[in-house]
Amino acid sequence: VNHLLGIKYLNEEDIQLIFETADQFKEVINRPIKKVPSLRDITIANLFFENSTRTKLSFELAEKRLSADIINFSASQSSVKKGETLIDTVNNILSMKVDMVVMRHPNPGAGVFLSKNVDASIINAGDGAHEHPTQALLDSYSIREKLGDVAGKNVVIVGDILHSRVALSNIFALKLQGANVKVCGPKTLLPTYIESLGVKVETDLRKALEWCDVANMLRVQNERMDISYFPSTREYAQQYGVTKTLLDSLDKEIVIMHPGPINRGVEITSDVADSKQSIILNQVENGVAVRMAVIYLLASKIKQ
Ligand code: CP
Repeated sequence: VNHLLGIKYLNEEDIQLIFETADQFKEVINRPIKKVPSLRDITIANLFFENSTRTKLSFELAEKRLSADIINFSASQSSVKKGETLIDTVNNILSMKVDMVVMRHPNPGAGVFLSKNVDASIINAGDGAHEHPTQALLDSYSIREKLGDVAGKNVVIVGDILHSRVALSNIFALKLQGANVKVCGPKTLLPTYIESLGVKVETDLRKALEWCDVANMLRVQNERMDISYFPSTREYAQQYGVTKTLLDSLDKEIVIMHPGPINRGVEITSDVADSKQSIILNQVENGVAVRMAVIYLLASKIKQ
């Protein structure tokens, strides 16, 4: 398959191959000359129909480090605003001899839809509340780097699970690698089907933190919800926000992760985000090597 549409389409061997390839690229991007000539014959379009800082810049840098030609498209400055459809937009871009499309879109399933309707390799850079596969890969890669392995580790994903593509992709990736996964959050932000994915639910944050090796703290996605469903921000921070006092009261040192952007003082306080237990910026750093690996492996199939 010449796409990365979601973690649910991968198996454990795929993930290990991506990580081993990312190990090599991580070594490359720490050299004085951070580039390899591998993809000089590949052209990639980055299509962002929704805002992004980390994912957009990380993909762009990964492509540049691989020497691919790239074009960047932001829907808000495009003819999408004049009513052009997704398929017409992408087919026009592809007619300029583009091989691969990286797409972020607010609608769940947009990547799958595109893959069935255009002739290019598609990478899902986040589709609504559905999947964010490269985020989950860089998250697991960062756990592996910090703790040596993902298998057997206790990982809790805290917060707005209901609206989170990061949560769903992380659950699929962590389960494939043999981690034990719990989710923790207010009942209003937990999907009813969540336990069918093989994860346990813990609504008490302290108990969840006492159990885990790693806590992945999610942002509350106000943009995807009717505010009336939700506890107030103050109530949320009181019940589900991680503070330094809470972290220091645990009898072990857990690893703190966050996909960003952080709402400082809501899901985590600044002294937690910036603490030595936090690997938040390592996640961002690893995103470039992991995305280089994904692009490189897909491009090698295009070239076959
Ligand atoms: N983690 C993540 O997807 O961040 P951006 O929305 O800034 O890309």
